[in-house]
Parts: sequence; structure tokens; C-alpha cells
Amino acid sequence: MKKTASKPIGIFDSGLGGLTVLQEIRKLLPGEDLIYFGDSGRAPYGTKSTETVRKCTESDIKLLLSKDVKAIVAACNTAAACSGREFLESFGVPVVDVIRAGSEEAARVSKTGRIGVIGTPATIKSGIYERSIKALRSDCVFTGRACPLFVPLVEEGWWDNEITAAVCHKYLSGIGDIDTLVLGCTHYPYLEKVIARELGEGVTLVNSAKAVAAQLKNLLEDSGISGKKRGGKAAYYTSDSAEKFAGLAEMFLGKLDGPVLRVDPEDFMGKQ
Ligand code: DGL
Repeated sequence: MKKTASKPIGIFDSGLGGLTVLQEIRKLLPGEDLIYFGDSGRAPYGTKSTETVRKCTESDIKLLLSKDVKAIVAACNTAAACSGREFLESFGVPVVDVIRAGSEEAARVSKTGRIGVIGTPATIKSGIYERSIKALRSDCVFTGRACPLFVPLVEEGWWDNEITAAVCHKYLSGIGDIDTLVLGCTHYPYLEKVIARELGEGVTLVNSAKAVAAQLKNLLEDSGISGKKRGGKAAYYTSDSAEKFAGLAEMFLGKLDGPVLRVDPEDFMGKQ
């Protein structure tokens, strides 16, 4: 096994959202060591400017690089949309991101080509999903909708209650005739039940987490840096309260397979 193969994989998001991706990576790659960073102290990203999100993304990546990761998963649509592939790839380690995976999955599963994407205001404004899905499906009729209150509701642990259902109704009741809806924010799978109830059975929900995990597996294999087959460990970092993060993360994942530690991403801003 190459020396790099035994290094961990770094995963980042603005907060809890990327845990939906970590969960799928853990299922598919049970032997890999994982380092997760959730930037809850600076979340939400999706209502901030492109420049601010890019700066946050840079420090998130540098923080993970300081843990000597062999690959990075940008488990945040907003970070990927605001930074672009070129920027994500400029740090010298292989990167996979959720936007490519979600677009490919939507193009594959939609029968009619009438595809909707929900995401943060920054992701929808960037137009990246419309471009990437239309590049794969020329018959695509695209609808994008920003849902800015979804991320704070998830970070608060309000995953299925009457207020979340009312917000969901407000955002999605007029979304029109679609057969596929991409959850274009990694926080949104927490709200999958509420969203599915609102849209009914005729709409397939695309959660890019599984597709990203599969892309990561291929990338590691192709680069000859796959790690152990079982017994992977994890460590979780957050820029806000470690207790709050651990409580919500355990509500979602069950008992955590590693410690939760607080860290300040600003400390990594200037580093190479
Ligand atoms: N999970 C992030 C995403 O996929 C949420 C962004 C936010 O913090 O607003 O876009």
C-alpha cells in the first residue's frame, strides 16, 4: 500500500449538512479514516457573498490539509458553486464535489427532463446546476428555487415539525411540473420526509451523497490510494460548540465513531 493510502479523507461543509455525505462514504468505504469539518460557527454560507464563501472555503480546505488528508470532499454545494472546480483543485490534493454528482444523477433518473433544483441563494444564483444539468440533458426544462430558511432549520434540529412543513409549503407549493428534484444543499436530506410529503409521489428526490461516495471510491482506486477495508476511524471538528454539534450529529448518525473538537478555521487562513 502506498504511504498516502493510509492517510485520512477530509470532508467539509458549512455545518451539519456534510454529515449526510459522510454517512454514505462510511457505508461504502468502511475502512477509510475520515476527518470532518463543519463550519457551524460561520454558517449559513448560502446567504453570504461569493467572495466571503470563497474565503471560508479556502480556510476549510487549509484546515483539512493541516490534518494531512489524501483527498478532499467538498460536501457543500454553496462552497463548490462559489469557488468553482479550478479553485477547489488548486490545493494539490484530489477533490470530489456534490454538484457534479447531483447533476449526473438528476440527468440519469429524470424521465421527462423537467428537473428542479433547490439550494441556497448563493448556489441558485450561481446558475451552476442549470449549466451542468443542461450540458448533460439538452431536453432539460430547468427550475431553480432558493430555500434560505432550510439551513438554519436543520442547524437548529427542526427536521420535521409544523413550522418546517409550513416553510417547505411556502417554498415548494408553486414549483410546477417537475418529475425530479435535486436536493442541491447537503443540509436538505435532513428535511427529506417533509419535502417528499409536500411534493407527493410523482417527484423523485435526488440526494447526491451516494453518488459522491461512489465518485470518491473510484477516485481513490484510480489513483491507487485506497485505504484499509475495515475499521476506519473518524474525527469531527466544528467552529462552534462541540457539545451542540455532537448532540445534533448523534441525533442523525447515532453514536459517533470519534471525538468532536472545536477549532477556529480563521487560524488556517494565511497558511499554505
Ligand atoms: N450544506 C451547504 C450546501 O450544500 C449549506 C450551505 C449554507 O450554509 O448555507 O450548500
